[in-house]
Amino acid sequence: MTVVDAVVSSADAAGAVAQPGNGQTVCVTGAAGYIASWLVKLLLEKGYTVKGTVRNPGMCTHTHTTRRYDPKNAHLRALEGAAERLVLCKADLLDYDAICRAVQGCQGVFHTASPVTDDPEQMVEPAVRGTEYVIKAAAEAGTVRRVVFTSSIGAVTMDPARGPDVVVDESCWSDLEFCKKTRNWYCYGKAVAEQAAWDAARQRGVDLVVVNPVLVVGPLLQATVNASIAHVLKYLDGSARTFANAVQAYVDVRDVADAHVRVFETPGASGRHLCAERVLHREDVVRILAKLFPEYPLPTRCSDEVNPRKQPYKFSNQKLRDLGLEFRPVSQSLYDTVRCLQEKGHLPLPVPDEQATEAEKTEAPAAELQQGGIAIRA
Ligand SMILES: NC(=O)c1ccc[n+]([C@@H]2O[C@H](COP(=O)([O-])OP(=O)(O)OC[C@H]3O[C@@H](n4cnc5c(N)ncnc54)[C@H](OP(=O)(O)O)[C@@H]3O)[C@@H](O)[C@H]2O)c1
Repeated sequence: MTVVDAVVSSADAAGAVAQPGNGQTVCVTGAAGYIASWLVKLLLEKGYTVKGTVRNPGMCTHTHTTRRYDPKNAHLRALEGAAERLVLCKADLLDYDAICRAVQGCQGVFHTASPVTDDPEQMVEPAVRGTEYVIKAAAEAGTVRRVVFTSSIGAVTMDPARGPDVVVDESCWSDLEFCKKTRNWYCYGKAVAEQAAWDAARQRGVDLVVVNPVLVVGPLLQATVNASIAHVLKYLDGSARTFANAVQAYVDVRDVADAHVRVFETPGASGRHLCAERVLHREDVVRILAKLFPEYPLPTRCSDEVNPRKQPYKFSNQKLRDLGLEFRPVSQSLYDTVRCLQEKGHLPLPVPDEQATEAEKTEAPAAELQQGGIAIRA
């Protein structure tokens, strides 16, 4: 076994064997990512032992006295229970043997790892082949009772033929030709990867359940900013001078993690699960942010002054609500996102207003937004 193939949790470093909390071990691919980090946190809190795959566990030096870890994974090592029950395994999605080692001995697999890019070369092959490898590894392990795949709204809504009154739900699929024509390679890759997951699961007799999150916001556990948080950050740091005439559905990262665990733990859960709290026009997003954080240079002008304002689409999140999930309001998620970006140094902290009362300084965003009447439910 090479150094980098080795399990590199603190427990392992200390020579201890990880003790399963509730007796179950699960694998989370791409464990250091934005969504996966919250998923790992929740699984550890629930007593699972987690084998998380990362591309670089970062054990660069291997002497008897020195071990150096990739700082990119520091937030995972800091999670409660990580020292005893988190194991990081090196695995690229295109390395089948490494994926097999990570899945070995697991009762569940959460496949969240995926490139998040519109570069077709980087996106499609790892997303599709990696997903096929994960399902194959799960089938061959002989211990896995369910695989949960993180798909996307990108595999659901990209369909120009859908009428404005159609309620977007789990029966909707993106039109692959339309994705290609519009060069939306991320949506194309996610749709083809989800199809590949369903095909491979059917062929190999794997119990597969899918979560389709919309754009995910909320606090980050990791130090770096991922693509969906960059979508919010650009309005606050002055890099976006206008907002687009576009609508988007949003959901909180903590609810996405919760959805993954619910569909894993509920024996009767099956099929796809649309994970969305609400659809907002970009103008609504910047208005919510401006109301909560007036100190930042939020855009006030739409980049499209010609076309009519895009209308939010209708959707159903009933399947996840039937599993008991209560979605956080997006205004709360946006508030928590900005506070986290400030705490992690991605946004300057506002200069304190000496006149403000303590109550004003800590006012709950939801109350303020209800009074302001900004929130719009699709
Ligand atoms: N955030 C959203 O708004 C959103 C919405 C819908 C669906 N999703 C889906 O949710 C999942 C997680 O997204 P995220 O927002 O948490 O993104 P993220 O923070 O960028 O995490 C993606 C993870 O995938 C890993 N990864 C990428 N390419 C890989 C490869 N070739 N081999 C192994 N690992 C690879 C990355 O590993 P490294 O750390 O080594 O780069 C990273 O840990 C993805 O499947 C994404 O499509 C996200």
